Amino acid sequence: MNGARLVATATLGLLAIFGIAVSTCGTDEEGLRALTRITARVSFLLFLAPYSASSVRRLFPSPATRWMLRNRRALGLSFFVAHMLHGLAIWMLALLLGDAFEAHPITVLAGGMAYLLLVAMALTSTDRTAAWLGARRWNALHRIGMHWLWFIFAYDWVVLSLSSPGYLPLAALSFGALGLRIAARRARTGNGVAVAPTAA
Ligand code: HEM
Repeated sequence: MNGARLVATATLGLLAIFGIAVSTCGTDEEGLRALTRITARVSFLLFLAPYSASSVRRLFPSPATRWMLRNRRALGLSFFVAHMLHGLAIWMLALLLGDAFEAHPITVLAGGMAYLLLVAMALTSTDRTAAWLGARRWNALHRIGMHWLWFIFAYDWVVLSLSSPGYLPLAALSFGALGLRIAARRARTGNGVAVAPTAA
């Protein structure tokens, strides 16, 4: 399972999860809040794959991590779909609540910026648009975008863990993924010798 087929399969799976969540949680305020939480969690789990693909490939070379790295773009696009479903859930909640919908200005600013970066990353995920942007700008956009998304997830999970310890594993996963990136970077730059190939 590679490339476009992977994105199509992931999209079908995500739509199925979304449909099941709507039908089990309902479309009242409580149900839609649950839907925003479910979509955020699913999209976080998908986010971890493109975020750590090149690190796990470098640190743990195997056919599975090679597949992950080769399909990093498809995994990123699948995450994009998942996070758009978080956006859809928020939009449904805002429609239901009307003027009573409240979001902290910092959430709107930080989250809105994350969505802008996400759309820009998705639009530049074809060979043609990536070439149009140029390698240096493409790298900057994707690096900043992924770290910004990581920051929002990590921040949310840490803050939520303070009141609900059930969120601790999600916070730990965020920092574990960051740790993998740091370890892979060290492995790459330590003594100037690469310990494993990064390319598929
Ligand atoms: C303007 C943009 C956004 C708005 C208005 C928004 C709004 C919301 C709302 C209403 C909830 C449910 C809160 C509740 O009632 O429990 C939520 C949960 C959450 N959102 Fe977003 N969000 C936005 C963007 C993002 C982005 C970009 C990310 C991640 C990169 C994100 C990650 C999360 C997380 C981690 C949760 C908590 C899920 C849980 O409690 O399990 N959100 N968001």
